[in-house]
Amino acid sequence: MTAQRKFRLGILGSGKGSNAAAIADACASGEIPGEVVLVVSDVEKAGILERARARGLEALYIAPGKSRARLDETAEASFIQALQRAEVDLVALAGFMRILPGGFLRAFANRVVNIHPALLPAFPGLEAWKQALEYGVKVTGVTVHFVDEGIDTGPVIAQETVPVLPGDTPETLHARIQEVERKIYPASIAALARGEIRVQGRQTVWKRV
Ligand code: GRF
Repeated sequence: MTAQRKFRLGILGSGKGSNAAAIADACASGEIPGEVVLVVSDVEKAGILERARARGLEALYIAPGKSRARLDETAEASFIQALQRAEVDLVALAGFMRILPGGFLRAFANRVVNIHPALLPAFPGLEAWKQALEYGVKVTGVTVHFVDEGIDTGPVIAQETVPVLPGDTPETLHARIQEVERKIYPASIAALARGEIRVQGRQTVWKRV
């Protein structure tokens, strides 16, 4: 009997890797019916690579090129090649700080997702928890979404609220947001791995099975 092929995840990140760790742990515990086959970072010493290696996962640094904001063409080709070689079914961005060019998104059409630390479309872009605090909102949250060519504009997969409490600092608010991220991202990826989420234009439809 041939074993059924597991859902294969690639993760891209530039930071400390708490989301990547939560996703890997959810695969190990069986919450996500899949496996993390490759972790790639554009930052050589990023914590995400260390955390991946500590879990015995394949972890690669790929130089991003000269642009500060996006992958250049050579880097884009290397990222695509590494992920295609690993035969990933889904690319999960977890704190990846560069814009992915259209060629990358076309190579993995409808198969790139991201976690954003605010309730989109509020506060897209960088340090969304700081934006929320400075704006003075009482509630912010977390969004899991598909990635398109805009900045944090793709179809929403899941959202959860997080209260802004009196006395919150950027650090305390971000920590509370990250606790929610570590639940909602693995849960969304599990649903994607089970084939329970369909995209229809801007809408995503969850089929509970
Ligand atoms: C998270 O807050 C995520 O929402 C944002 O970047 C941060 C990454 O954190 N996109 P980590 O590296 O997963 O700890």
